[in-house]
Amino acid sequence: MNLGIIGCGAIGTDVAKAADAINDIKTIYLYDIDEHASQKLHSQLKKAEIKPVDEFLTDVDVVFETASQQAVETYAPLVLQAGKDLIIMSIGSLFNDDLRKNLETIARKNKCKIHLPSGAVCGIDGIFAAHMESLDKVTLVTTKNPASLGKNYDKRTVVFEGNARDAVKQFPKNINVAACLSLAGVGFDKTMVQIVADPVETRISHKILAHGKFGRLRAEMENMPNPNNPKSSYMASLSAIAILHRIINPIQIG
Ligand SMILES: NC(=O)c1ccc[n+]([C@@H]2O[C@H](COP(=O)([O-])OP(=O)(O)OC[C@H]3O[C@@H](n4cnc5c(N)ncnc54)[C@H](O)[C@@H]3O)[C@@H](O)[C@H]2O)c1
Repeated sequence: MNLGIIGCGAIGTDVAKAADAINDIKTIYLYDIDEHASQKLHSQLKKAEIKPVDEFLTDVDVVFETASQQAVETYAPLVLQAGKDLIIMSIGSLFNDDLRKNLETIARKNKCKIHLPSGAVCGIDGIFAAHMESLDKVTLVTTKNPASLGKNYDKRTVVFEGNARDAVKQFPKNINVAACLSLAGVGFDKTMVQIVADPVETRISHKILAHGKFGRLRAEMENMPNPNNPKSSYMASLSAIAILHRIINPIQIG
């Protein structure tokens, strides 16, 4: 199997290094708008080549987008039109209903898949399963240190309460988690989000609360930052690598 990676930053690097150690993967094609980023990553890998996306598309089986929302808009249609599976990390791009529906249509037509890793949260599997029957309420509570929100509160303060669509307009850094949760469950307009600034918090914590016919779900994650990009949670990289194993392994978990 050959892999394409668009975006050689923190997550792209983690995915590429993991892929480099997987025997089933023969060649890893790298592309980044910043040539230094792709060259730096290339020098750390055994089986990588640097190529523009349109030149590697015929040779790959799966493409990772680990770049930006702009990259999803530019490259996702091309990847799917080529009939290749796509793993999207910049899930926030899918808040754009037109883009998301267009990608779904192209993927259906070309019989390929769009994978969305669970990212920096856990419990997405439970929300997705619960959504098969009535799922009454889904709430995401994100707690950060006030400094990481550019604030200076000396006590716990709720800075946003509303639906996911409005949350990402005001707090775009929460966008990937809110998008993944919304798409797994009740959608952008019904998924509720609370963003809390708490001086006690040293990590970024995400708590998912849901109830429905299945019962009640509480899932909480306290994230360590990615060593290569403190703005990314390390778990986001691990969830991307887990999707790669899911594609390769015969046994599918979850
Ligand atoms: N799903 C999640 O839970 C989750 C979590 C963290 C980050 N993300 C998203 O994943 C993406 C990558 O995150 P990261 O921490 O690796 O970022 P990063 O800034 O470390 O790396 C991004 C890389 O992509 C490159 N890039 C940007 N736009 C590009 C384009 N149009 N074409 C080609 N290359 C391009 C940049 O030059 C950079 O090298 C971001 O969009 C981020 O928001 C998702």
